[in-house]
Amino acid sequence: AKFLSIESNPITLARAIMSDQRRHPEAKGDLTMILSSLMLACKFVSNAVRKAGIASLIGISGSSNVQGEQQKPLDILANDIFINSLKYCNKIAALASEEETGIYIIDNPDEAKYVIAFDPLDGSSNIDVNVSIGSIFAIWKRPDYSKPVVLEDFLRTGAEVEVSGYCIYGSSTQLVIATKEGKVDCFTLDNSIGDFILTHPNLRIPKKGNIYSVNEGNSHFWDKSMKEYVNLVKTPQDDNTYSLRYVGSMVSDVHRTLLYGGIFLYPADKKSPNGKLRVLYEVFPMSFIVEAAGGKATDGRRRLLDIKAHDIHQRSPCILGSPDDVDTIVAIYAKND
Ligand code: AHG
Ligand code: MN
Ligand code: MN
Ligand code: MN
Repeated sequence: AKFLSIESNPITLARAIMSDQRRHPEAKGDLTMILSSLMLACKFVSNAVRKAGIASLIGISGSSNVQGEQQKPLDILANDIFINSLKYCNKIAALASEEETGIYIIDNPDEAKYVIAFDPLDGSSNIDVNVSIGSIFAIWKRPDYSKPVVLEDFLRTGAEVEVSGYCIYGSSTQLVIATKEGKVDCFTLDNSIGDFILTHPNLRIPKKGNIYSVNEGNSHFWDKSMKEYVNLVKTPQDDNTYSLRYVGSMVSDVHRTLLYGGIFLYPADKKSPNGKLRVLYEVFPMSFIVEAAGGKATDGRRRLLDIKAHDIHQRSPCILGSPDDVDTIVAIYAKND
């Protein structure tokens, strides 16, 4: 019953996971523990993001990361929060983070079956100007958890992901989680009770959209097919005109693409031949989520989830979104190759 629009049957993330678990009794609750730790981390980062301006968590920290980027205080704080939240759930053997040079091995009381890769704070260039930012993660089951964890546990394909998700610290804090059964749910943080409530169950991406999302400032460096595609969507065709929306935080641009449809592109260019986005904790999780919601994700020629990682910080061109829009650019690459 709903009185005065106060939900009398709130579905929290914990309850949603448990109902999932009932459908998969074989899962020993490990993923439940990991997702609960991730939920805690997202709440803490959300709290820090909301206080960044006051707690002088803005500007630069003076240190840089393996990516060659100037780390922001929130990059470092979010990284510490994620590591400390995941360290004690006893279910993660090791983690890879944008802000950690190598894999971070966790000392567990007994064998831990999963590894996680995450981007603790995505869209750092937007922190100081109060534009939405986020966190992104992907979880793999280790091929052989009787052995000590090794780098190879992370050098997997995106198709092998068990669960991936992102948290977006925007006008509200929302946590989107996708499972390999192709279920995508969005939970919204209710600050008054400090819990994530299921607000958008079973998200499906529109078959086609009318928004393209790319940093046109790099257009001079794009390849022929990318230039041809962007010119196509900029050419008004009968009732089919596109708008450009580009936030510069992948989480925001992908979240909008998931809900409104359309296409997000971070192509390779002459400056960065493999594009900018990192495979393990940006391209794979977002491609996994978009495919689970009925979308497509490609580098123009191949399905992104079929890539097998050879380095935890490797990059890849990234084109993802509504299936009809992705098919259009794939056809252009096929025609020109
Ligand atoms: P991060 O802040 O985690 O380093 O990621 C930034 C990424 C991604 O969020 C966004 O899509 C892209 O950088 C924007 O890059 P440009 O500013 O080159 O467009
Ligand atoms: Mn960064
Ligand atoms: Mn990022
Ligand atoms: Mn980041």
